[in-house]
Amino acid sequence: MQSEIDKQTMAKAYARWAPVYDLVFGAVFERGRTASIEAAEQACPSGGRILDVGVGTGISLPDYSRSNRVVGVDYSEPMLRKAQERVVEQKLENIETLAVMDAKHLGFPDAFFDVVVAQYVITAVPEPEATLDEFARVLKPGGEIVLVNHIGAETGLRRAFEQWFSPVARRLGWRPEFPWARLAQWAERTEGVHLIERRPMPPLGHFSLIRFGKTLGVAATAGASRAVRG
Ligand SMILES: C[S@@+](CC[C@H](N)C(=O)[O-])C[C@H]1O[C@@H](n2cnc3c(N)ncnc32)[C@H](O)[C@@H]1O
Repeated sequence: MQSEIDKQTMAKAYARWAPVYDLVFGAVFERGRTASIEAAEQACPSGGRILDVGVGTGISLPDYSRSNRVVGVDYSEPMLRKAQERVVEQKLENIETLAVMDAKHLGFPDAFFDVVVAQYVITAVPEPEATLDEFARVLKPGGEIVLVNHIGAETGLRRAFEQWFSPVARRLGWRPEFPWARLAQWAERTEGVHLIERRPMPPLGHFSLIRFGKTLGVAATAGASRAVRG
């Protein structure tokens, strides 16, 4: 079994990435960011409050429509400082708050957001399933969790490469072998949550846009009412 990632390793990795992050990952991840923001905004067409978890340097923030209020959180202070500079420089008045926060312990009330977005984040957190529970808790019934992420291959040469590269990748802040099954199984066993879509994204479908919905009429704490079936 693959070992989990730890928060301190991750924090160190992103403190190193912060000065060059936009240069290295700006263009590479752009298609996924655009598609996930489009999906998020379609989920609250008349404007709403969106939480961007792992907002990093805030590279996605200018892409949100001004009719949405956006809150960004990240565990890495150096990354978040860049986001703060961007908000001031670009006068992004729809960004309500930026805060240092662990994705698994969000300091917001239940059912506070219309959409929770996490771009290239869910495989970087130590406990992805517990983190998704927390996303579901802060999400309003009828709302959506929108993820974009690299998903590990299930077979073949790519899988072998990802397994081999994984120890080095962890030190850089990635988990390339992360299996789709973990996300699918989380949705299957979490009451009040369902998979809406998994859409392959470039390059070569190695990335996925993933949308989970929170059922209308379900208690706000979807994570807390978790039931394992079968
Ligand atoms: C690959 S970067 C993605 C940044 C941005 N979302 C983007 O699209 O470029 C992953 C981000 O997740 C943040 N992160 C990692 N673990 C986290 C955690 N447990 N809680 C909050 N943020 C975390 C990192 O600090 C980093 O900024």
